[in-house]
Amino acid sequence: MLPLAELHVHIEGTLEPELLVRIAQRNGIRLPSYDPDVLRERYAFDRLTDFLDVYYDNIGVLRTAEDFYDLGSGYLRRAARAGVRHAEIFFDPQAHTARGVPIDALFDGLGSALSDARRDGMSAELIMCFLRDSGPDKAMLALEAALPFRDRFIGVGLDSAEVGYPPSLFVDVYARAAAEGLRRVAHAGEEGGPEYVWEALDILGVERIDHGNRALEDPDLVHRLRDQQIPLTVCPLSNLALRTAPPRLADHPLPVMLEEGLRVSVHSDDPAYFGGYIDDNLARVCEALQLGQAATAQLAINSFRSSFAAAERVEAWVADVDAAQAAA
Ligand code: ADE
Ligand code: ZN
Repeated sequence: MLPLAELHVHIEGTLEPELLVRIAQRNGIRLPSYDPDVLRERYAFDRLTDFLDVYYDNIGVLRTAEDFYDLGSGYLRRAARAGVRHAEIFFDPQAHTARGVPIDALFDGLGSALSDARRDGMSAELIMCFLRDSGPDKAMLALEAALPFRDRFIGVGLDSAEVGYPPSLFVDVYARAAAEGLRRVAHAGEEGGPEYVWEALDILGVERIDHGNRALEDPDLVHRLRDQQIPLTVCPLSNLALRTAPPRLADHPLPVMLEEGLRVSVHSDDPAYFGGYIDDNLARVCEALQLGQAATAQLAINSFRSSFAAAERVEAWVADVDAAQAAA
């Protein structure tokens, strides 16, 4: 099995309908249906905001530390089966605290799930994301509420509806995060144009761009990303489901990104909604694009080199990728 680092997965986007039903029943919450297949029928989207409506609706069932533990541990078990050795997992605290869920429930539940995974040999970390469509003041409050748990997460990200909420709005929040020694990433260039990527780099000082597909529209930006080897975490099945890439996987821009010398890696985004975890994303995109073993291994190596893990661990995982490729 090819070793991988998962750098772009939203833990709330791993809420499979089966678990959703189980947690809703446990918490006495009404759902439109208790049949996971019927719930799954709603998972057809035309754009990011259509998806986010369902995503926020569904996560309303998550209330207790046990719910977050079940969510996190279910994902981490699946990730281990996908070959994930290191995971940097997004979570959206504002989407829960705004509903009255205490922030301790998130950190306790997700933290216990991560502890179990570490005990089983996986490396796993949390990155808290700000909901850009809730604005910068709420983001700052979310950061301040999370700082008492500073040792339980490694960085900050920016997600939710992109267009109309440019990265520059969050300059003060990211400066505060940097002052706290937090790593910085942001979704940019998923639906928003290349200017969102420029702002994330120049104004927020992010070290990695989530998605970034639309960066390809700006040759100067492509230059910058290549020269500085700024990582892009690309999510092919998400792009397909949300129509942020051409409708056929065979036309996905991943080969252009590789040819341009960009440091891209493949990830899953919201696997419960988009039809596959990191292993499925990699297998399906490599098959559709007819990427050979060497390119597939390069994507795996990039995933580790784009991570925030310590250099010596990264090099050990890269050696494992080489060994897996040699054995294949
Ligand atoms: N939150 C969860 N998934 C997301 C995505 N693909 N883009 C922006 N925000 C998200
Ligand atoms: Zn995402």
